[in-house]
Amino acid sequence: MWNIKLSLLLSSIFVCGVTIRIVSGIALQCDEKIDLCKINCLTGNIDDDVKLECADLPKNNSLVHILQLDFKKLIGLQVQHSDLTDLKHFAHTKLEHLQSLTFINSKFNLSVLCDITESTPYLTNLTIIQENIQELKAKYFEKCKVNLTTLLMNENKMNEIENDALEIFSEYLTNLKLRDNKFIQVPQALQHLRKLQTLDLSNNKIKSVSNQDFLALNGLKSLQKLEMNELDCKCGLEKEVFFQWVTNKKFPEVTCASPKRLQFKKLAHLTKKDLCDNAAQTNAMVSSVVVFFIIVMILN
Ligand SMILES: *[C@@H]1O[C@H](CO)[C@@H](O)[C@H](O)[C@H]1NC(C)=O
Ligand SMILES: *[C@@H]1O[C@H](CO)[C@@H](O)[C@H](O)[C@H]1NC(C)=O
Ligand SMILES: *[C@@H]1O[C@H](CO)[C@@H](O)[C@H](O)[C@H]1NC(C)=O
Ligand SMILES: *[C@@H]1O[C@H](CO)[C@@H](O)[C@H](O)[C@H]1NC(C)=O
Repeated sequence: MWNIKLSLLLSSIFVCGVTIRIVSGIALQCDEKIDLCKINCLTGNIDDDVKLECADLPKNNSLVHILQLDFKKLIGLQVQHSDLTDLKHFAHTKLEHLQSLTFINSKFNLSVLCDITESTPYLTNLTIIQENIQELKAKYFEKCKVNLTTLLMNENKMNEIENDALEIFSEYLTNLKLRDNKFIQVPQALQHLRKLQTLDLSNNKIKSVSNQDFLALNGLKSLQKLEMNELDCKCGLEKEVFFQWVTNKKFPEVTCASPKRLQFKKLAHLTKKDLCDNAAQTNAMVSSVVVFFIIVMILN
């Protein structure tokens, strides 16, 4: 009798594929919400890799309370559209499995980042989006004891990065996105990132790269992918080191924004003739005018 009951119970658990963990009276279950956080189980098992996706957390910050729920393997945490103004750090939490940490419009104070990473030694991916940061200061990262490989800081309002702000990541950072910010030059601070493989600088205001600014790019010895889409591809550009470098490396995602005739064109595919020569265009116009007159004459 007991055996039958037990096997029924086991099979029902197997069929539904649901596992539940009870922690201090609270049931943790995949795809369920706990307070304002959704539990996203990557393998369908609550005791395996889990990501928490939190939104609309109020200022009094229930985050610490949620993190104390002792997930077996919490590998990702995302907080968006919240008010973490008063967040100091994740006090008394065990986040030794955390690999990715994401803040999107969470009002978190970047000054406390290194306090937070005290409990996240294996953090590799940090995402900070829509947090209204204008200048990336060296003090934000200098005490962080993590070896980040991916740093995403899109859609902030950054126009400056202090020179040594990113130096701490030079050994491991391979992927940096600074898309949709307000840079007008390639930041010199990038020059230390010798392991960087992909760099996204698109949707800023970087119209040109002077020989001085180029030194930062030239330091990126491992770079395989560069995205820039606001360049002014004017005649004379072909003489600059930056042009020769892009052409050599054949980066396909470096494109022109102006002049109009070169908009969206890949810089690596352009020649001096494309940049400087309007003759080809004029010739085309002349010949179409001639064809037009010939047709008019024939019709007459
Ligand atoms: C946060 O504040 C709200 C309203 O002010 C309250 O309902 C809630 O219980 C508080 N949460 C915690 C964890 O203190
Ligand atoms: C961020 O934290 C730092 C250090 O704790 C503090 O000086 C600063 O005023 C805070 N900024 C905001 C906007 O709360
Ligand atoms: C980060 O890298 C440094 C230098 O390679 C190493 O000593 C340290 O243990 C690493 N930290 C972690 C948390 O892996
Ligand atoms: C970290 O970022 C890299 C590159 O974007 C991605 O391939 C990887 O899956 C991310 N890892 C985690 C744990 O989110």
